[in-house]
Amino acid sequence: MSDIQKKNAGYAAAQYVEAGMKVGLGTGSTAAWFVKALAERNLPDLKCVPTSERTADLARELGLTLTTLEDTPRLDLTVDGADEIGPDLALIKGGGAALLREKLVWEASDRCIVIADAAKVVKQLGQFPLPIEVVAFGHKTSGARINAVLAAHGMGEATVRQADRGMVRTDGGNLIYDADKGVIADPVKLAADLKAVTGVVEHGLFLGLADLAVIGTDDGHETLK
Ligand code: 5RP
Repeated sequence: MSDIQKKNAGYAAAQYVEAGMKVGLGTGSTAAWFVKALAERNLPDLKCVPTSERTADLARELGLTLTTLEDTPRLDLTVDGADEIGPDLALIKGGGAALLREKLVWEASDRCIVIADAAKVVKQLGQFPLPIEVVAFGHKTSGARINAVLAAHGMGEATVRQADRGMVRTDGGNLIYDADKGVIADPVKLAADLKAVTGVVEHGLFLGLADLAVIGTDDGHETLK
């Protein structure tokens, strides 16, 4: 993990934003650099939709104008981080527990740019534990069904994410299950199988959503399509 690479990616991605755009703001340490860089550009008539309460707080503090998907249902561009970037820009996201709002905002956007440090680029997805957002009601039952799906894909068990004060809650009040690390051989089928489990709200596989990756290097950035 390299903070300078994250910063370079965030600042480079801010150059893709133009005056008057409606912009989705991602969540995480890399996305925070983008938010900072965007605020510094001081472009007129921007409207921004944050993907989490903490991004909203940061953006507000930096003076960006916020709106919601309810008021602004289509966005020009979203820029967000990722936990892994695989072939064809297939992603694992949700390390920051914001995957549901992130996916809603990504899907509302005409263009999506993923930003990351170079270590996030992988040949095959799965070394980062795949996050799965689950409704709290009956979550142990849902968890058992999730584990059956993961086992059918040759993957280890998922466990509920814990923090100092107990189970992690998302901004929407849901829980996060993290799958054990393992090769995700068929991301498309896994995505469909997880979505078929009642109680699963969303998973962190972002497939066919990223249009461009801006990867920070120690002295600049590279792009992947
Ligand atoms: C939050 C995310 C983040 O984009 C992802 O976890 C990457 O975070 P960071 O930029 O801090 O490495 O998906 O839900």
